[in-house]
Amino acid sequence: MFPLRPKDVFDELQKTVLGQDEAIREISVAVVKHLVGHPAPNILLIGNSGSGKTTIMRAVEHFLMRSGVGGLANVVRINANVLAEERAGYGKLLLGRLYDNAKSLMGAGASRQELLGSVASGIVFIDEVDKIRANVGSQPNVRGIVAQEALLTLMENENVEFEVEGETVSVNSSGMLFVTGGAFEDLYDSVLRRAVIGQDVQPMKPVVVVSASGEVREELPFQLREYLKYDDLFRYGMTPQFISRFESIVVLNDLTEKDLSRIFVEPDASIFRTSREYFTRFGVDLQITRGALVAIAWDASRQKRLGARALRETFRRVIRHLEFDPNDGGQRVITIDEEMVKSSMSNREGALKR
Ligand SMILES: Nc1ncnc2c1ncn2[C@@H]1O[C@H](COP(=O)(O)OP(=O)(O)OP(=O)(O)O)[C@@H](O)[C@H]1O
Ligand SMILES: [Mg+2]
Repeated sequence: MFPLRPKDVFDELQKTVLGQDEAIREISVAVVKHLVGHPAPNILLIGNSGSGKTTIMRAVEHFLMRSGVGGLANVVRINANVLAEERAGYGKLLLGRLYDNAKSLMGAGASRQELLGSVASGIVFIDEVDKIRANVGSQPNVRGIVAQEALLTLMENENVEFEVEGETVSVNSSGMLFVTGGAFEDLYDSVLRRAVIGQDVQPMKPVVVVSASGEVREELPFQLREYLKYDDLFRYGMTPQFISRFESIVVLNDLTEKDLSRIFVEPDASIFRTSREYFTRFGVDLQITRGALVAIAWDASRQKRLGARALRETFRRVIRHLEFDPNDGGQRVITIDEEMVKSSMSNREGALKR
């Protein structure tokens, strides 16, 4: 029996990736299918900036490199721009990277055939795939066209040639697993516009949202996944051949205030844990109250389109002056409370007005 179930992968990923259960569930199943040699769907992740696309890819990559069976998984993670800039063309660089990985995974004793077998079952993460659109408005984008073609070649070709130690070898790359992701910023805007105008649906009306901290604001109940059509992706500049190679398109969630407050404290390398470590070095125990946490998440959620990245800026305002002299006057404990957060926020508003 295969020692790794999709659920095990999911449980592991959940420690680092919060609020995106659907996406990590889908990836967990695809990865396990692929590892057992079953056909697995290629996945395209679409999500706003700071919603966790890169975090997800990195988490899966780390997991695969660490776990027992995963240790045998041959994984590469690249930025789509690399494909556009590659002179050799058609993903040769990517295949070269997989080949080098195979050598270090399988050791010196492995034959060329075995190494190429490992390349053929590689798992490839391609980030910022929205940057390789084939056109921008009505202008063709040559770099994007080249990169989409390179990827297509890899995804469907049973005989791709590349160089290994000065020799040309060929590999069947059609069985590799591809997980790609991008923010598709204009896509969000154009679909939103369609939704607001009500071109093919009822126009959307703002709703009143009450935040965890009791503040009230108006928001459009817009969820990209409810409105997105294949056509939108074509118009964005992803060619139909390209998009049709992704059997699974997952639109990530916009992170809620609750997700943001969990992201701020829970993951191993969370912003708060990292800050705590800094203070520990000076013998200071950094604490935070529930109210402060809620206030930080609320402030971050108000900064549109930054997703969890907004947490960093919000927190910097609170922590900046404390970092300068951590054990000022010999203090052993610092507790960040709601008042401290609120006063740092009001400083910002003052600064912006000036
Ligand atoms: N779902 C999430 N779970 C945990 N941490 C997250 C999540 N989303 C974002 N983060 C945190 O926010 C930061 C930015 O996230 P990430 O780089 O994954 O965004 P992205 O979706 O790739 O954005 P972009 O489109 O701008 O590349 C990361 O450092 C990570 O710590
Ligand atoms: Mg990213």
